[in-house]
Amino acid sequence: MKNLLLIFSSFVFITSCSVDPEIKPIIGEDDVKEIVPPGWPAPVYTYSANTLTADGFTLGRTLFYDPILSADNTISCGSCHQQFAAFAHSGHDVSHGINGLLGNRNAPVLQNLNWNPTFMHDGGILNIEVMPLAPITNPVEMNETMTNVVAKLSSSGKYKQLFTKAFGSDLVNSQRIFRAIAQFMGTMYSYNSKYDLVKSGKESFTAQEQSGYNLFVQKCASCHTEPLFTDYQYRNNGLSINVVYNDSGRAHITGAAADRYKFKTPSLRNIEKSEPYMHDGRFTSLNQCLEHYNSGIVASPTLETQLVGGIPLTPQNKADLIAFLKTLTDTKYLTDSRFSDNNF
Ligand code: HEC
Ligand code: HEC
Repeated sequence: MKNLLLIFSSFVFITSCSVDPEIKPIIGEDDVKEIVPPGWPAPVYTYSANTLTADGFTLGRTLFYDPILSADNTISCGSCHQQFAAFAHSGHDVSHGINGLLGNRNAPVLQNLNWNPTFMHDGGILNIEVMPLAPITNPVEMNETMTNVVAKLSSSGKYKQLFTKAFGSDLVNSQRIFRAIAQFMGTMYSYNSKYDLVKSGKESFTAQEQSGYNLFVQKCASCHTEPLFTDYQYRNNGLSINVVYNDSGRAHITGAAADRYKFKTPSLRNIEKSEPYMHDGRFTSLNQCLEHYNSGIVASPTLETQLVGGIPLTPQNKADLIAFLKTLTDTKYLTDSRFSDNNF
């Protein structure tokens, strides 16, 4: 009996070792697909030159959650982009990177990125495929060089396997790293909120949500445009200048005075979960954001004309708007196991 048990347990041991222990849960081809939800525009980025596969996605996912991309192997993309917060950095006003260093901007949500014509609060990055270069090389984020990243990954048996599965050989280079991450990040689609179910006729708004939606369409949707809840334009929404960072926003990229203090309109999908808010994380609640539009708009030469004088909102208006904004929470997205940390 004892012998039998021994044979049995070593059998279990051998079989469980023959499947790759590091990569779970296993992603199938059906789990990774290009999607354009009904009524959405065509995405900016497609996979025409970067064939989307389950193995490419899995490599991208493994890299996203692996601190090996940082200089001292402590910070991963997932350190600042947390799934439960729609991949924003929960509770952190500005980013918090290597050696405890602080950046000067709030980590944005990551979702539906294939529709982004530009990236970052100031639109300084133009393509999802080069996106990882910025955080990897940023001295206060991951502070690493691509040469070192390639060397570290090339000497890892695990990555030799993953690159071979994804791209047919174990060659590691920047393009393969970036394309794999684009396969993972780009297919993180959020389109299953209550709002989406209402739009497709499967659910209906409560009276309060409906009243909030009506206000939203009147007062907010010109910038936070449906269905992605952003127009991807740069706008000055009247925030006071933060003297600590004195961040000029879009003008940081264009150098144009007309772009000073303009920031990319953020999507409001999953907004309930992605606090703190605004490019510098200055607000910790939706109520504060609404109070900003109601009473906090600061006049300046580049303020959006539609915001001059603010957007008057009664306490009831604010409660209704918040009830509506909460219908943009996509619990399926926030808990989807395909997007969770697989490096354990
Ligand atoms: C130390 C925290 C930190 C780490 C680590 C980090 N990010 Fe970010 N991420 C940020 C911040 C902050 C921004 C906004 C920066 C800006 O606007 O200048 C950002 C912006 C982005 C954006 C732009 C989103 C948009 O809608 O414009 C993408 C995509 C992104 N990060 C992906 C990644 C990837 C991939 C990695 C890993 C290679 C990574 N991030 C690592 C903090 C971080
Ligand atoms: C004129 C364009 C415009 C209008 C109108 C507008 N917003 Fe915004 N909104 C922006 C911009 C731009 C930002 C980002 C500012 C920043 O990061 O500094 C923003 C940020 C936000 C944020 C924080 C998002 C985040 O992820 O940090 C919330 C919440 C928000 N707006 C809600 C609303 C609501 C609700 C309304 C209507 C009452 C509204 N906005 C009207 C342009 C606009």
